[in-house]
Amino acid sequence: MTTLFDSLSMGPYILPNRIIMAPMTRGRSDVGALPNELMAEYYASRADAGLLITEATAIHPLGYGWLGAPGIWNEDQTKKWKLVTDAVHEKGGKIFLQHELRSLQEKREEIR
Ligand SMILES: Cc1cc2nc3c(=O)[nH]c(=O)nc-3n(C[C@H](O)[C@H](O)[C@H](O)COP(=O)(O)O)c2cc1C
Repeated sequence: MTTLFDSLSMGPYILPNRIIMAPMTRGRSDVGALPNELMAEYYASRADAGLLITEATAIHPLGYGWLGAPGIWNEDQTKKWKLVTDAVHEKGGKIFLQHELRSLQEKREEIR
């Protein structure tokens, strides 16, 4: 019988177990939508899960939804995300970033 703790093949990835952390807004980013050490600690401490999905992350300033949310639309933010991904990878974890698109689409509608 398959259990939660059995590995899972997912496209090119082999997850060590079937525990997948849902994306959850934490609102802990620094000013400038910059990821930080606290976020690295938060995600790295959950790296035993088969896969982590990050909180919604804006890919454009127009898609920025709420205070404390991280972004990934510029070089500084991208570099700071490396803090998070390196910390997770050091513990053998896998992490996907959730792109925030919805509010961008909504704002585009408003602008039209
Ligand atoms: C505090 C909190 C923050 C959340 N943030 C996000 C988010 O950033 N992106 C997202 O897609 N879902 C978010 N969710 C929704 C959860 O991912 C969702 O509740 C989870 O997948 C469980 O699904 P269910 O509500 O259908 O059981 C959030 C939920 C909570 C409780």
